[in-house]
Order: sequence, then structure tokens, then C-alpha cells
Amino acid sequence: MMNMTPNSLLQTQELNTWYGAAHILFDVSLQVQRGEVVALMGRNGAGKSTTLKAIMGMMTKRSGQVSFLNRDISHAEPYQVARQGLGYVPEDRRIFRELTVLENLRVGRQPARLFPDGTPAPLWTHEKLFKLFPNLGEMQDRAGGRMSGGEQQMLTVARTLMSNPLVVLLDEPSEGVAPLIVEQMADMILALKAEGVSILLSEQNLHFAQWVADRAYILEKGQIRHEAPMQDLLDDEEVQRNYLSV
Ligand SMILES: Nc1ncnc2c1ncn2[C@@H]1O[C@H](COP(=O)(O)OP(=O)(O)O)[C@@H](O)[C@H]1O
Ligand SMILES: [Mg+2]
Repeated sequence: MMNMTPNSLLQTQELNTWYGAAHILFDVSLQVQRGEVVALMGRNGAGKSTTLKAIMGMMTKRSGQVSFLNRDISHAEPYQVARQGLGYVPEDRRIFRELTVLENLRVGRQPARLFPDGTPAPLWTHEKLFKLFPNLGEMQDRAGGRMSGGEQQMLTVARTLMSNPLVVLLDEPSEGVAPLIVEQMADMILALKAEGVSILLSEQNLHFAQWVADRAYILEKGQIRHEAPMQDLLDDEEVQRNYLSV
């Protein structure tokens, strides 16, 4: 049995992964509490995306433990992990280009869920999502392939929410999208938090992270070098200089 704090929804313990012979993650231990937004920070190539993939069960060669809602998911397949209520928005946008915005959302729909203590997780409908993402509401009949990159990014997040997740993994939500969309992404993350959804997001950008996150882990070369409340990180020039691109 893993050593869980009572409110911890997601936890990794001494996670190691390899791509072929290349050892990428080294004993990564982290946790996400209920209601928290946690930033996984570090420069390009630090291992942020690999950590999220490993949590989702997408890294075949790995050791260590991952637990979600007090269940060991270390050996679960990605679809099984997703079905238990762990949402994942990968770096590359994966929308259905031929389907409209509304159809994309309907495809993502899954049953309602409960937190381990029996309280209901937020239930998402396309109407509720269009309030959160007014842009998407205005283009609900447009084909996914005819949207901008940032709009597609929002649609991917919205479709993931249609699965009513308890925790969402967001891989660099602010990367390569226009400032207006970045602002909507930040608003969306804060709205999710207000609804009780926990988020683990990977991020290089301290400005975006400080806007949305409560706490941060800092990765370098596949190892967690530092963990701090976001507020402390903002005052810590040494850590910023050593591990972040600021
Ligand atoms: N498919 C892959 N095959 C081999 N090495 C990879 C692959 N994907 C990523 N890597 C390597 O793993 C390390 C971590 O990458 P990644 O997790 O993508 O970092 P980040 O998301 O922090 O930029 C890097 O050294 C990268 O070159
Ligand atoms: Mg990445």
C-alpha cells in the first residue's frame, strides 16, 4: 500500500521510464491533492511530457508506482486510466477534423462520476462548456479542421471535460497559442478549479504558471529538483535561474 495523504487524488512514487535504452525519468515522486492546480515545470526536454504520458500508462518501459483515487494504476492501459476519470490533453491537438465542434464534444461524452468520498464530480454539458469557452459556442457548427490552432487546443480541453474527469493532465496549455487564447486557457483552468477539478499541468512559462497554479514541481534531466508553493517560487531567483528559462 502506498503512503497516501488523505486528500491526495493522484500520486506517483519513484517513477522511472525509458525510451529504448535511454533512461528518461529518475524516481519522480509527486502528488496532486483534491482542488489543487499543480505545475510541473522545467525547460524543454526536462521530462514534463514523459511524466504525463507515464501517468496515463503510455510508457511501456517504466518502474515505480502510480496511484489514482487510491487505486494502483501502475500497470493499467491508457483507456482504463481515462475511464477511471483521469483526463489527458496531449501537446498535439487531437480533434476530429471532419466533425463539427458540437460533434467533437458529443464524441467525448462519458458517464457522471463520484469522488472517492461519494460526492459528485462536476458534470459537463456542451451548454456549460460554451459558457466557459464563448468562442467555441460561436463556432459550434464549424468543422474542427477549419479552426485555428488555439481554437483546436480549446476544443481538445473541452472534449476532455465532456468525460467528467476528477483530475486533468494538461500538457503545455499555453504553448504556441495566441495571447487571447492563453487568457481563456487561464480563465478555464481557474473555473475548473472552482468546480473542484484538480489539474496537473506541464509548463515552461512562469508567468502562466503563477497565474493558475498553487504549487510547482521543478524537473531537470528527468529528476525533481525542487518543490514549492507558487508564491515561494516567484521570490526564488536562484531556482528560476537554474531550472527555468526566465
Ligand atoms: N519518443 C521519444 N523517443 C526517444 N526519446 C524521447 C522521445 N520523446 C522524448 N524523448 C526524450 O526524453 C526527454 C524528455 O522529453 P519530454 O518529456 O518531451 O520533455 P519536455 O516535455 O519537458 O520538453 C528528452 O531528452 C527527449 O529528447
Ligand atoms: Mg513537452
